[in-house]
Amino acid sequence: MELDEVMRCAPTSRRFTDQPVDRAAIVRALDAARFAPSGGNRQGWRVVVVTDPEKRAALRDLYLPHWRAYMEITGGAKMLADPDAFDPKRTQMVRRANEYAEKLAEVPVHLVLGVQLSDLAVTDESLPRTSIVGGASVYPFAQNVLLALRNEGLGASMTTLLVPAEREVRELLAIPDDIALAAHIGVGHRADPWPKSLSRRPVEEFAFAERFGEPLAAN
Ligand SMILES: Cc1cc2nc3c(=O)[nH]c(=O)nc-3n(C[C@H](O)[C@H](O)[C@H](O)COP(=O)(O)O)c2cc1C
Repeated sequence: MELDEVMRCAPTSRRFTDQPVDRAAIVRALDAARFAPSGGNRQGWRVVVVTDPEKRAALRDLYLPHWRAYMEITGGAKMLADPDAFDPKRTQMVRRANEYAEKLAEVPVHLVLGVQLSDLAVTDESLPRTSIVGGASVYPFAQNVLLALRNEGLGASMTTLLVPAEREVRELLAIPDDIALAAHIGVGHRADPWPKSLSRRPVEEFAFAERFGEPLAAN
């Protein structure tokens, strides 16, 4: 696939067929993804590839309480209880996300993505706001994984609600204490047709010329 096409149509896939996933395709995707940038080229990302059914069920059990709490806090639970009162597209997304969570154990391949804390240069930790810079050394890799999986014809869904269960996940997968959980990526053969393009805001809504708020013309 062409890069532009992959970037524009790598959707979140939440429903998968029963077709087994070729381990070699996962390895190829990780092999391509490792060329991501990271602060000081420290490459602190670590990935545990989980296919064992018992471990997948354990990951689901760790994920679900956090997902359900998130649904309550964000109003997703209300949306599912009274779908007609909400925007149908949004309701459909929440329904799919909920099904994905409930059936997480059925997702064929789970990539548990962590990062070595000592490899992070967190340049904003002294600021009086939520720190985001640490993530900058692992999420470019995560996005590369998503794009490389799409290039392999595989669907994937990146979520972060396993992260609050970091201690239990470490125990389950023998992950050392100095590795922080960054994301979970569920992988399989997408059950739905691939979309032609994804729904995203146009450039003029988020990019500006010279000063914030100034329109950015193409030339
Ligand atoms: C940091 C992050 C957290 C996410 N968490 C969830 C999640 O908990 N559950 C879920 O189903 N999707 C999750 N997603 C996927 C987003 O919902 C998805 O990227 C967004 O709705 C756009 O979907 P599309 O790419 O299919 O258009 C997450 C994505 C990111 C980047």
